Amino acid sequence: MALKITVIGTGYLGATHAAAMAEMGFEVLGLDVVPEKVELLSSGRVPMYEPGLEELLAKHVAGIEGSTGRLRFTTSWEEVGAFGDVHFVCVNTPQKHGEYGCDMSYVDAAFASLAPVVRAGSLVVGKSTVPVGSAERLAGVLPEGVDLAWNPEFLREGFAVQDTLHPDRIVVGVPGDDGGRTEKLLREVYAAPIGEGSPLVVTDYPTAELVKTAANSFLATKISFINAMAEVCEAAGGDVVRLAEAIGHDERIGNKFLRAGIGFGGGCLPKDIRAFMARAGELGADQALTFLREIDSINMRRRGQMVEMAREALGGNSFLGRRVAVLGATFKPDSDDVRDSPALNVAGQIHLQGGQVTVYDPKGMENARKVFPTLGYADTALEAVRGADVVLHLTEWREFRELDPAELAAAVSSPVVLDGRNALDGERWRAAGWTYRAMGRPRA
Ligand code: UDX
Repeated sequence: MALKITVIGTGYLGATHAAAMAEMGFEVLGLDVVPEKVELLSSGRVPMYEPGLEELLAKHVAGIEGSTGRLRFTTSWEEVGAFGDVHFVCVNTPQKHGEYGCDMSYVDAAFASLAPVVRAGSLVVGKSTVPVGSAERLAGVLPEGVDLAWNPEFLREGFAVQDTLHPDRIVVGVPGDDGGRTEKLLREVYAAPIGEGSPLVVTDYPTAELVKTAANSFLATKISFINAMAEVCEAAGGDVVRLAEAIGHDERIGNKFLRAGIGFGGGCLPKDIRAFMARAGELGADQALTFLREIDSINMRRRGQMVEMAREALGGNSFLGRRVAVLGATFKPDSDDVRDSPALNVAGQIHLQGGQVTVYDPKGMENARKVFPTLGYADTALEAVRGADVVLHLTEWREFRELDPAELAAAVSSPVVLDGRNALDGERWRAAGWTYRAMGRPRA
């Protein structure tokens, strides 16, 4: 009989995983402790913007016309325990308040609720990003006869559906003494992507946990590396975009994740590198990761540098009474996520220094308003730039690349655009009468 799957926690990771498991043919039950979320998902809708996710849910959620009916949601742990052969734990692990370490309270609560109801012979699979050593500890929380695997998730926001259905690798940490039982079951769960050629890496718990934090640390390092080069380019009169292109031709380096700009944000990279440093400290290996401190500070410095670039563009004095248009609020395009968003951070800093900031973002307005209600917001890019003394391009949405610079030039008070993502076509903007400046690039 086909395996029955449960997914505990229905945020980005969980909602996508649940829908993907249904797409792969399994009967799936998703649990969340927030009844409103369960209600929303049960009607085939998601509380965030993620391309393709609502369509996938609608295809499978029970009760929706024409759906396969393979996917349901609940708030009941008893139901989850009785239903599942395999339970995926997908709750989030945010940064602790006022500390670098990660907050394990949602993971701990999920295991505490699951342990009394889980059936003997079933498998629990952790997907949350956790400090190394957690799986070993959590295995001890589960009753005798229930195995634990750790299976980190590498999905990118904006590509969550595709990354989950067609992962570039599947990593599983399994117990060493189960006679291959866990691996066999997970091969069954992931038969579709494995069949398509996704490599499967089977390893122990600590390695599986570390793969995730190592991958995110590497990505963060790549971005901060190119941003450090941008700083040097600025000082030396070089062009970081050409530099990235040139070093990217070396296959050992590669050309991805080398876009200089205002740096990385979001719910993962910043908190993951900090939690990794904190955990290494606890393990007595803090020296190994001191470089991540530098990665973090290069990244945070970018935001301040963008503010200074804007100040300089306004004549080098105060922002008081000056109109600043900000294009972009989310931490990356194709997402409505504003968590630790560099764009919103820059907008906020300028606003707090007295600038009259007006923000426009294609999908992030509602979330941005919640975090920063005192900023000005406009319904379109054109409205945002009306009367602006300077325009800041801070999230690289396609919509912004497709704007007509001539139309915008007619609306602003002064046609100066600062590209914080090195994503606009500078020549096009200059041809339309703009002063175009980008980070780590020559002035004209
Ligand atoms: C990241 C990892 O990529 C993913 O594998 C993991 O599962 C979760 O964390 P995500 O947070 O969705 O995914 O964002 P990502 O695409 O990695 O971008 C992170 C940030 O880096 C964004 O703010 C983006 O704008 C920035 N970035 C990315 C750059 O500044 N330059 C680049 O070249 C690439």
